[in-house]
Amino acid sequence: MRSLIAGNWKMHGTLAWAGDQVRRLTEKTRDGLPCDVLVCPPATLLSTVAGPLRDAGILLGAQDCHHETRGAFTGDIAATMLADLGCSHVLVGHSERRSFHRESSHDVRKKAMAAHRAGLVAIICIGEDRNERRAGKAFDTTAEQLARSLPAGATAANTVIAWEPVWAIGTGDSANVPDVLAMHRFLKQQLMTLLGDGVRLLYGGSVNPSNSRELLDIEQVDGLLIGGASLDPERFWQIATDGAPD
Ligand code: 13P
Repeated sequence: MRSLIAGNWKMHGTLAWAGDQVRRLTEKTRDGLPCDVLVCPPATLLSTVAGPLRDAGILLGAQDCHHETRGAFTGDIAATMLADLGCSHVLVGHSERRSFHRESSHDVRKKAMAAHRAGLVAIICIGEDRNERRAGKAFDTTAEQLARSLPAGATAANTVIAWEPVWAIGTGDSANVPDVLAMHRFLKQQLMTLLGDGVRLLYGGSVNPSNSRELLDIEQVDGLLIGGASLDPERFWQIATDGAPD
């Protein structure tokens, strides 16, 4: 399966910064792309970066969407609006949305469904927190989040899953290879039962150029979701080149 390397800029960046960021990133694509590369900037930057990224063959994604198409939802953005801006992907259920905005897997499911209706690929994020892992509940937690977050109509073509253990996000403490292997094996089995073969499963949490290759070498890892390191085009591109087929 072709790797997907996705950068989640979270709440970072002004117009000027994003222009520079995208220029530095697209310069690197002159000889082609090593794998599928996706950038998810904040909503305010989507329209500015859409053109240059598209010209370079880099995919554009958003970080969240509302489950309705329109209406009185102040501050929210519909999946159809994101598609209109040129997005092909949208993250749903990121742990920061689940914790800071109290989003449940039920909410995430509705958002994923809206993404599908708008023709977007939903990247559904799941992951246990440190207490759940310590209590030996990591597998139960992720299995439940996965089953509850996946909408009817999800397929390998319109859905990507990202396992992002909460304890590994932004901590510098990436999951180690045996833990990633065990969780990805487990989630692939779950996905096989729920959706069949071929669903991409990404790992996210403190990925950087020093650990990206060993993570991508794990057979069940189909790509990476990168926060902090995606804010530096040099580091992000270095990780993307590790996504090239052997
Ligand atoms: P970091 O790579 O900064 O740990 O963030 C991971 C993440 O949350 C990507 O969505």
